[in-house]
Amino acid sequence: MMSFRDDLTNFGQTHLLEHMATLSPAQAQSFSKELASVDWGRARTMHESAGPGALPPLPSTLAPLDAEILSKDARDLAWKTGHDLLSRGQAGFVLMAGGQGSRLGFEGPKGACPLGLPDDLVLFEVQVRRLLRLAEICGRLPPFAVMTGPDNDEATREWFARRVGESLPEGWPEFFLQSSAPALDESGKALLSAPGRLALVPDGNGGIWQRLSESGILARWEGAGVRWIHIAGVDNLLSGPCDPVFLGFAHSRGQPLCVKSVLRTDPAERVGVYVLDENRRARVAEYTELPADSASRLDLDGLPVFREANIASHLVRVDALRDFARLDMPWHLARKKISSVDPRTGQTQETGLACKYERFLFDAFPAAQGISCMRVDRELEFAPVKNASGVDSPESARQALAAIHRHWRRSWGEFDASAWVDPRSSYGGERPGTRGQEASF
Ligand code: UTP
Repeated sequence: MMSFRDDLTNFGQTHLLEHMATLSPAQAQSFSKELASVDWGRARTMHESAGPGALPPLPSTLAPLDAEILSKDARDLAWKTGHDLLSRGQAGFVLMAGGQGSRLGFEGPKGACPLGLPDDLVLFEVQVRRLLRLAEICGRLPPFAVMTGPDNDEATREWFARRVGESLPEGWPEFFLQSSAPALDESGKALLSAPGRLALVPDGNGGIWQRLSESGILARWEGAGVRWIHIAGVDNLLSGPCDPVFLGFAHSRGQPLCVKSVLRTDPAERVGVYVLDENRRARVAEYTELPADSASRLDLDGLPVFREANIASHLVRVDALRDFARLDMPWHLARKKISSVDPRTGQTQETGLACKYERFLFDAFPAAQGISCMRVDRELEFAPVKNASGVDSPESARQALAAIHRHWRRSWGEFDASAWVDPRSSYGGERPGTRGQEASF
């Protein structure tokens, strides 16, 4: 049987064995446990397939993916269908919260970052309250799982355990830890974050399919009757978990995958767009991937040809999700500053930018048998919290939410339209205390 020592030798990581020899017996024992937990063959593959020397994938002929914009009547109809699906327990919600949130610079999980909202509400709490409210409207609480990352797993679980307010049902939400991978140097050697500790980093949200399956959540939810799983990023303050309109739309289109987009108006915006490849399969082209002439090409209406921006909100039918979980997803390289120690001396060293490898969940999309795309209003549904200040910050997200609440209050005929609306009392602008549909805009 091959031991991890053989793997380290075979995959060019002998510096780690040499480092182990410099450690105390207790340190060496925990280090060897960590080394044995890593798939070193996979580490080699990611470095060879996507590393600094790898050839970028050939650009394919890309065409824009078209989206549908729902009329008021179509939204109402979709809402009713979505409501029925939720009442029958056919949808569950997964919040992706495994990222490092490095741009935000907050110490804890992004979902727990103070946003300056009334009642000190944070992203996690807003999602919880919207789901509880939805349960009131539909008569059933959707199953809910949170994907955590190696840096925030403990803190995330603790946040939910300690949150103040209405007590949550036992085992709701569920948690599952995403996969991680070692950070490597330019030549593919694993870096150490401290003596006797590998620099392990979250390896992107693309592991979600496999982890949902391996964790048993997929099978359990499916067994309980779930047919659709809504997956959304943690950092959109306006995200509607298990949005009935989205669900109803997805269901009526009959495709196994349905995505939400917003209109990209600025060709310079750093956002991924939905495209069709040469096989007419849908995928997301990141802003770094789209050739400059395509990114800035305008259509006759003056808007970018590639205009459907990805807002990380996806509905996947469970049969497609099972297929996604079996895919071998491609790796992408991200260069990150990581503080590391010299394996020979144990002293902090300057390594320049380390190689961090990630998989993206949307790389599974071309495997779907069909896709539908629903374009929503940016002002109503997309306010990401990415940076500490300026664009896409707590401040900009708070303002976007306040504008919506003002509109809701006006639509309820209230005199003081400035007051905030607790997401526990209104999911989508329906009047608190009713079980009605969303507000119209
Ligand atoms: P981002 O690409 O914005 O990354 O993630 P991030 O980690 O939150 O922030 P930066 O780039 O370090 O500043 C988009 C969504 O994907 C999730 C994030 O939690 C967010 O909901 N994600 C990202 C994961 O769940 N795991 C990852 O490894 C990366």
